[in-house]
Amino acid sequence: MEITPELKEKLSLLNDKYAAIGEDFNAYLEGLLYADVTTYWDYIQLDTLLSLQKPKTSFPDEVIFIMYHQITELYFKLALREFEALGQIQAPTKNHFIERVTRINRYFDALVKSFEIMINGMDREEFLKFRMSLLPASGFQSAQYREIEIFSTDFINLVAKDQREQLKGETDISRLFEQIYWKAGATEAATGKKTLTLIQFEEKYKDQFIALGQHCSDKNLWQVYLRLSKEDQADEAVQQVLRQNDTNVNINWPLAHYKSAVRYLARQDKDVAATGGTNWQKYLPPRFQKRIFYPTLWSTEEHENWGKAWVEESLS
Ligand code: HEM
Repeated sequence: MEITPELKEKLSLLNDKYAAIGEDFNAYLEGLLYADVTTYWDYIQLDTLLSLQKPKTSFPDEVIFIMYHQITELYFKLALREFEALGQIQAPTKNHFIERVTRINRYFDALVKSFEIMINGMDREEFLKFRMSLLPASGFQSAQYREIEIFSTDFINLVAKDQREQLKGETDISRLFEQIYWKAGATEAATGKKTLTLIQFEEKYKDQFIALGQHCSDKNLWQVYLRLSKEDQADEAVQQVLRQNDTNVNINWPLAHYKSAVRYLARQDKDVAATGGTNWQKYLPPRFQKRIFYPTLWSTEEHENWGKAWVEESLS
């Protein structure tokens, strides 16, 4: 092999790099002689990834249920990386903002489209049996889903809709957390008591959610948007990516998800009780929750009709 000037230059740069941290470059060069080259399976941790599916029953379709939840959580993780990075930016530019929010929108587009895997991809009879062995676990307990909400908007917009007006101006996140919309949904339909699903979820994550809410008071996506120039805030493309985000997270995904609850749990005579024991028919539809991350970007009429057109369309 020819020792070209380029190669010499690289060696010299590497030598400097190791010298700067007090290490002997020669020793590291020797290490290269023995190190294995990277393989695909090691790089993406394939064996570990494929070992993470542990069904609780022997019904074959339970694995589909587990894996689709895992796939969803990975997409949530991708979205959260973008939220976190955006939140750090003090002087965002329009193009960067659009580009990164579009990434998040793309992840949710993929999730909405692929939800068919749940809606039509499992045997209903099998599902109704294996779900009983998962009690009281529920997707309701997805912490990343809640973190996405906290990273999207001011905390007041996550308060139950009948409490929002009253709590406007409240800055104590732990007070707002007491009225977060999903608590009202996770109560036992029959008794009005907190479900075990909710009790366990809060025990594990309550402090973390409140701390994140405080952290995000100036780092949520809406606050990053407000750091754009007035001109950029008024830009149609900027507003459009945020409206798309709102639609994806608060209408399209919840609706695709609701369709799966309807497919598996709805009965002519009496609905099958949800794993968390909630009255899911009254809780899950986006038109009842009216979760809106960016309320000022929508007209009064759009507020009033939140989730309605889609419900009728997709459930017909
Ligand atoms: C056949 C598939 C599914 C059915 C029948 C179903 C059913 C339900 C029901 C009935 C609830 C209400 C809470 C409860 O009582 O448990 C719920 C909540 C929830 N599920 Fe699912 N689910 C399915 C798949 C998924 C998947 C794949 C995810 C992905 C992580 C997920 C995430 C959630 C979330 C985040 C909530 C809370 C929604 C909210 O608070 O608005 N679910 N699910």
